[in-house]
Amino acid sequence: MYSATGMLMLLTAALAILAPSALGLDRAEFPPGFLFGAATSAYQIEGAYLEDGKGLNNWDVFTHTRPGDITDGRNGDVTDDHYHRYMEDVEIMRDLGVNSYRFSISWARILPRGHSGGVNSAGIAFYDRLIAALLQKGIEPFVTLHHFDQPQELETQYGSWLGTGIREEFDYYADVCFRAFGDRVKFWTTFNEPNVFAKDSYMLGTYPPNHCSSPFGTCNSGNSYREPYVAAHNIIMSHAAVVDNYKRNYQAKQGGSIGIVIEMKFYESLTNNTEDILAAQRAMSFEIHWFLDPLFFGEYPKEMREMLSSNLPKFSLAEKRLLQNKVDFIGINHYTAIYAKDCMLSPCDLNTYEGNALVLAIGERDGVRIGKPTALDGFYDVPEGMEKIIKYVDKRYENVPIYVTENGYSQHSSNGLEDLVNDVGRVNYMHGYLSSVASAVRRGANVRGYFVWSLMDNFEWAHGFTVRFGLYHVDFNTQVRTQKMSAKWYHDFLMGSRPVDALQTLRADY
Ligand code: FCB
Repeated sequence: MYSATGMLMLLTAALAILAPSALGLDRAEFPPGFLFGAATSAYQIEGAYLEDGKGLNNWDVFTHTRPGDITDGRNGDVTDDHYHRYMEDVEIMRDLGVNSYRFSISWARILPRGHSGGVNSAGIAFYDRLIAALLQKGIEPFVTLHHFDQPQELETQYGSWLGTGIREEFDYYADVCFRAFGDRVKFWTTFNEPNVFAKDSYMLGTYPPNHCSSPFGTCNSGNSYREPYVAAHNIIMSHAAVVDNYKRNYQAKQGGSIGIVIEMKFYESLTNNTEDILAAQRAMSFEIHWFLDPLFFGEYPKEMREMLSSNLPKFSLAEKRLLQNKVDFIGINHYTAIYAKDCMLSPCDLNTYEGNALVLAIGERDGVRIGKPTALDGFYDVPEGMEKIIKYVDKRYENVPIYVTENGYSQHSSNGLEDLVNDVGRVNYMHGYLSSVASAVRRGANVRGYFVWSLMDNFEWAHGFTVRFGLYHVDFNTQVRTQKMSAKWYHDFLMGSRPVDALQTLRADY
């Protein structure tokens, strides 16, 4: 008979045997100076939503006024309480062995009411402390200016990204950040996944300010065919103005670089039929080229212009001039590959993320899934998709430096603690995806970093706390952080040791 502890050890050992070895995956094959990190964002981890002068942001208001739109009805008021526990979290990163940390700044903590309300010095002080703690441990800060949250005041004043007034607001906010932190922060990104939040906010209505029109959803206001593109236009021009400011006024003296982060699935055509092949291309265009073509070539992609006609704004000459400032790098957030099915010739449900491209994204071909499913619908474990997407970006955008700014695996929170901590599925996923990054590097792609989403379990937007992406498990009642098997695996990989040895020891012990 085994004691409870004995049983747990047995289970751990059994699960460990199933985890892949790191043989064939070696840190040494990545270029020198490669950033290996973990990522988070302000609203998802900080909590302290009303402390030290912070203003309300769009997510504070959305989660409080529309709790029914969040799977578990919860919010980011406290979440990981990182605002108070950042020292412990930096210590965890040191133990993990990462050399960089991707986090975002809460705009409403710096400028509680936007430009007009003035700078909140306590907000500046918080990020000063965080940056100092990171640097002290040899961890490079990799900072996102906007990760889905903005002061609610700007929602009210301009309709946030629908109004051109927000461009100057964002420019001002970025300037405050460059001035305050730019002597120590060498990696900046303007926006995280504008292609996702423009659609979730203004097409599907699942993110604040909950705008959409039929058939995409039922919202009080919105136009799903037009607003995502108006918002995107303002986002692209806000980005361009900030890059221009950084390059003219800060880059030479601060010596940093600036980029943007785009979410990129890899769309495989469902069949070999021409219409599905074209559908996959359209889906890539509506997801990736939408933002990156303007930044690289000064124009929206042809397919979008043809299909959206007057719903797609045009760049004025002055805007095109501003777009001539080039990004220093592209951040790729990649989680999954998915099949693309044409909806032009054979009509399908179009109230989806790919609806405007007349594409349906599906996870199965002839009853066979594209990869192992994860806890989030539509997210599969398809490691070769990583190399494909890197090659795609590398080719289309002129061998631009690339950082994989997010990649990760979700678990259902309802699974028991042992299962959550013995996350063999995540170890498998990371092993596969990191090997795929390594392969892209070997073939000459200019990849310079990789960040796991996420350092720790956190508030997953409309899914609330029902799914977990962390390398560290968080008990949201006690705030205790517990290392998962994947954290141990990542640590061993980063240390250059062979995680397989540790796993075999466990097996031998048993
Ligand atoms: C990305 C977001 C990030 C997190 C992961 C799972 O779309 O950038 O905040 O929610 O997905």
